Amino acid sequence: MYSEGAPKCDPKIFAMGIPILGICYGMQLTAHLLGGEVAHATSREYGNTRLYIDDNSGLFAQLDRETQVWMSHGDYIATPPEGFAVTAHTNSTPVAAMADPVRRIYGVQFHPEVAHTPEGLKMLRNFLFDICGCRGDWNMGSFVDQAVKAIRRQVGDKRVLCALSGGVDSSVAAVLVHKAVGDQLTCVFVNHGLLRKGEAEQVVKTFRDGFHINLVYVDASERFLNRLRGVTDPEQKRKIIGEEFIRVFEDEARKLGDIEFLVQGTLYPDVIESGTATAAVIKSHHNVGGLPEDMQFKLVEPLRDLFKDEVRILARELNLPEDIVWRQPFPGPGLAIRIIGEVTEERLEILREADAIVHQEIKIAGLYRKVWQSFAVLPAMKSVGVMGDERTYAYTVGLRVVSSEDGMTADWVRLPYEVLDVISRRIVNEVKGVNRVVYDITSKPPSTIEWE
Ligand code: XMP
Repeated sequence: MYSEGAPKCDPKIFAMGIPILGICYGMQLTAHLLGGEVAHATSREYGNTRLYIDDNSGLFAQLDRETQVWMSHGDYIATPPEGFAVTAHTNSTPVAAMADPVRRIYGVQFHPEVAHTPEGLKMLRNFLFDICGCRGDWNMGSFVDQAVKAIRRQVGDKRVLCALSGGVDSSVAAVLVHKAVGDQLTCVFVNHGLLRKGEAEQVVKTFRDGFHINLVYVDASERFLNRLRGVTDPEQKRKIIGEEFIRVFEDEARKLGDIEFLVQGTLYPDVIESGTATAAVIKSHHNVGGLPEDMQFKLVEPLRDLFKDEVRILARELNLPEDIVWRQPFPGPGLAIRIIGEVTEERLEILREADAIVHQEIKIAGLYRKVWQSFAVLPAMKSVGVMGDERTYAYTVGLRVVSSEDGMTADWVRLPYEVLDVISRRIVNEVKGVNRVVYDITSKPPSTIEWE
């Protein structure tokens, strides 16, 4: 609060007569701006904490007097502003929650929005329903209707282009736009030859046969592989693939003629992130969304208010196949950044086969939806083995299975030995050119999820 450049809100919002809930720093800011006192604590309060509720009306209506909450703070409120009562405390925080029911201004020092505060949702519900008077009648069905109307209003009778990757975001965006404007939409699906086994066929079948969407399928594998020949540097690979993707897409867009709008599967987290200062570039990400600025399309972004889990609910609402609804994230540069060293057709084939086995076995083990990503990598180094009476000199396949909330940090999954065993056996037995399988047991940081 007292640091230079500490974020503040416009104090006038407190005079607007609207309900306000300040969370953590938000409560401290509320206290500070309304004349209370915020002080530095001698020790930080962090993690699971017992909360003792002093007044179980308002935010805490229908809650027990004691509950568990998640804390993460160093400062605390020494004196609440005038008009506020203390409504909860903990052993080390005298003002863990405060309320001015007359002005409908509330504050909590803990985090009701995280899973570690089991009754947090009840508190948020109390705030939204009882205090704000919200009805809570929003659902995905009504979202579809609203989104369809909004897209129609925006697009009118103009034509719309969509770069389809087969991932859940671009798929949902495409189906939604198709629902709104039908054949005014054309999807372009570029196969850069770096996709997983059966992926291109599945995307074409789903959108062409299933949804009857105009789909231009471009098999540009050769073009990409030619440009990647002899390239071993990871950033170089990404750059080439990103650029080539744009070239192919531009060619197709030109062929299609007069198109005014471009669909993008931008989600709410992308909207938030683009509003913050950029962090150090660890890897230059390539998305199908990263199209050239000089293409001069107007954007249609029907998912920009949604989080990933909501997009998945929407995907079901729109009858997308389970494989797409639950598809794990797959990087834009595809298998190229899972092959260390040069990308060749032989290596791609080996990785594709090994990856398909990982995919199948993780599914059979019931883990596919539980982990963030599970895939094979090809370090493209050879080692000695023995098969039958023969010495072999063949590739090693790496296995990468991680848990994560958002891809920013990740941990390796403690896979059951039986699952590791069957994956290893199957890869060595079934994929020609592989004689060894290793499991990557590093977290992110210090590693990254992908190997390049
Ligand atoms: P890293 O390897 O940076 O990956 O830990 C974090 C998450 O991002 C995905 N990833 C990408 N996604 N284009 C994408 O669309 C990319 O260039 C790219 N690189 C990494 C990765 O699969 C993981 O989920």
